[in-house]
Amino acid sequence: MRTSIFVLTAVLLFLSLLLPSIASAQRTPDLSGIWSVGGLRTLSNETPPMTPAGQKKFSSNKPSYGPRAIPPALGNDPAGKCDPLGLVRLIFFPRPMEIIQVQGRVLQFFEWNHMWRTIWTDGRPLPKAPDPRFLGYSVGRWDGDTFVVESNGFDERTWLSENYQGRMYGFPHSDELRTVEHYKRVDHNTLDVSLTITDPKIFTTPWVTTGKFLTDRQKIATPRPALPDAVADVVKQLTTSFSWSGPTGITFPGVVTDGVTRTAANLDPAWIGLDAAALFGTATGNPVRVLNDADAAGVAEMRFGAGVDQKGTVLMLTFGTGIGSALFTGGLLVPNTEFGHIEIRGHDAETRASERAKELHDLSWGKWAGRVDEYLQHIEALLSPHLIIVGGGISKQSEKWVPRLTGIRARIVPAVLLNDAGIVGAAVLAAEQHGGQKH
Ligand code: BGC
Repeated sequence: MRTSIFVLTAVLLFLSLLLPSIASAQRTPDLSGIWSVGGLRTLSNETPPMTPAGQKKFSSNKPSYGPRAIPPALGNDPAGKCDPLGLVRLIFFPRPMEIIQVQGRVLQFFEWNHMWRTIWTDGRPLPKAPDPRFLGYSVGRWDGDTFVVESNGFDERTWLSENYQGRMYGFPHSDELRTVEHYKRVDHNTLDVSLTITDPKIFTTPWVTTGKFLTDRQKIATPRPALPDAVADVVKQLTTSFSWSGPTGITFPGVVTDGVTRTAANLDPAWIGLDAAALFGTATGNPVRVLNDADAAGVAEMRFGAGVDQKGTVLMLTFGTGIGSALFTGGLLVPNTEFGHIEIRGHDAETRASERAKELHDLSWGKWAGRVDEYLQHIEALLSPHLIIVGGGISKQSEKWVPRLTGIRARIVPAVLLNDAGIVGAAVLAAEQHGGQKH
């Protein structure tokens, strides 16, 4: 089998060497892949001036988040009654989107609401008098490496922008909305995107937004037993799958000082005292930065999420297999605080109040939130934080438990970057330590 794959590869290689001009003349740039909107979450902040009709429509849109937030029951966000988001907002929704290229069309599959969009590339024009549709009508063409998509025929009921980082949203559009998107794959992992909205009934000038789609996150289960060499092998697989040879951030669920892992509450004791930075550096061939998982998540939230501009004492807590903590004051991190291990009722706190404890003991949201509340009261007595940011996988369902945390004074908010915070923080710190991307 291996031999035949080798032979096939050799034949293909030969053909491509023989026919380079034909190959390049026929090659359509490849945008296919699963893309995450991590780098592009809503329209740019530079809102164009609105016409009087646009201003009127904007004022009648009542969102439940952002500066104009009112309670959801009094609002009229179309997403609140499960209307499709409409094309522009769907593009920004923080769920992955897959691009598939086939003869005569490019398809975008959106995970959110399992919607798909057809962009016709068979040369047909946009319809002249379209029946309005939530995703409108789209045609695309290649301009060199760039895929240019034009759309019209949108249903006016949808809102354009997505709720993101407390920005203004709820922007309307009319039936005259036209969009032009440009997609260009700049490397294996990055798609440059620009979107121009033109809607003369609502905005007096076009609205241009630029950003990036990034390849979606990849997950490989932690090997069991999670011995250092086996984990290093997985880390190598991940960097290889992204063809990555730049600075690499790696988080670890334990104390890390100068790249050495010092504790292993939920891992094999082989990690204690190990030079993890050297291990992962050798495995990947990349410059690495290893740090505590909650510290990394906290750094990301302070820079890009719920902690932006918070100068007081901020505590980030992550609820997962354990409870991780990251403490900031004046924006500076005190690393390796390990507040998940304070003692509550004679037990390690994380064995009572982590997400795993909820699953293990089959606790209802109410029961589990009661335990978290008790834990936070102890923490508050020790640290008096101004703000507590709660993260980890369970922060995706924050509405089920955060409102029940009533026993503390500090403001509690869910992490804006949800469970991606650790990845983002590790990447930022690795890039800072090792001076940006190698190539
Ligand atoms: C570890 C911490 C880690 C947390 C979350 C705890 O058991 O001691 O270092 O941040 O779990 O993974």
